[in-house]
Amino acid sequence: MGLDVKKIKSDFPILAREIRNGIPLVYLDSAATSQKPQVVIDAMTKYYQFSNANIHRGVHTLAEEATGMYEDVRKKVANFINAKSEKEIIYTRNTTESINLVAQTWGKTNLEEGDIIVLTEMEHHSNLVPWQMLAAEKHLNLEFVTVTDDGLLNLQVYKELLEKSPKLVSFTHMSNVLGTINPVKEMINLAHQAGALTMIDGAQSVPHFPVDVRDLDADFYAFSAHKMLGPTGFGILYGKEKLLDAMPPFMGGGDMIKKVLLRSFKPNDLPHKFEAGTPAIAEAVGLGAAIDYLQALGMDNIALHEHELTNYAFQKLSEIENLIIFGKNNNRGGVIAFELGIIHPHDVAQILDRHGIAIRAGHHCAMPLHEKFGIPATSRASFYLYNSYEDVDRLVEGINIASDLFG
Ligand code: ALA
Repeated sequence: MGLDVKKIKSDFPILAREIRNGIPLVYLDSAATSQKPQVVIDAMTKYYQFSNANIHRGVHTLAEEATGMYEDVRKKVANFINAKSEKEIIYTRNTTESINLVAQTWGKTNLEEGDIIVLTEMEHHSNLVPWQMLAAEKHLNLEFVTVTDDGLLNLQVYKELLEKSPKLVSFTHMSNVLGTINPVKEMINLAHQAGALTMIDGAQSVPHFPVDVRDLDADFYAFSAHKMLGPTGFGILYGKEKLLDAMPPFMGGGDMIKKVLLRSFKPNDLPHKFEAGTPAIAEAVGLGAAIDYLQALGMDNIALHEHELTNYAFQKLSEIENLIIFGKNNNRGGVIAFELGIIHPHDVAQILDRHGIAIRAGHHCAMPLHEKFGIPATSRASFYLYNSYEDVDRLVEGINIASDLFG
């Protein structure tokens, strides 16, 4: 079923904004953060207006209501990614925190000097730095799957690295620069055959197409609410129950304990063992509303819309003289990073902004990937369910204006 983009746009108040002298906004920066529909904003406001209380700590009506709302979202998330149980859904602040949690708990407990972690050259800093920190502390070796000129992972290199018996493989489901959707299921299967566990960065995938963690057989899988129509400051770590159960807690404090003595404590059961302190309750409620919204449209329909829109954008952008797109148009999600002649990406983004078009310019938190391609920065347009063919046409018009200005 095709999406009714006009109707969808009207669900997002910010998309009716005008930028500078009545120019309507075209928002093409959803890979950085998505916009929020009114139903998400309303759900969070309603929570604060009628149900606000701390969770797991009170017997009064509000506390029970807030706890129920907070825990219901956990079931919704588990269902959304087809986890076996809500015990496997850990609330964090974002994808970055989810990856750090695995590094600091599973990694610290299970890895020893000389052990290998396999990463890839297309990782976001959030899937590089936590492992770099752990590697420095525990004297681990990091190995990297290379990226081909077409923007794909070199699976031959991957297979060779697996022969070195790494303990963990951690990589992104979809690149936030190249848009490449990696063959995650196949890669996880190969990692398991080699005896390695797998951690998948799903920040750019879960918002855009159906993800089934059980079908993928991922050991750990991380994503953020704010890229999937939900609020900032809220993220998810999925982990297989057996693994999470055996891991020590991450942060200490209230709620993550069963019992505390002056000099010791007994950790709580899953999933609370990993959730110390008062959490982001309204944000959980917001994510629940976002999932309802996405599911009402259907993740397959969203994926199809973005696929067709991205194909259209790829074709239109390819026709622009002096514009180079990074990565080919295969296995690609709705992210297109490009160079426009010698015009600096920040200048491109600024000129587009003058015409109401919001894109991102810079290294997109993937400095090593840019270094690999020999450039400090790119311009990046990214699409979501509320983007239309007219939005792409406005982008193309804006880029042509930028070209003429500097040409
Ligand atoms: N990871 C986000 C991006 O790619 C912030 O823009």
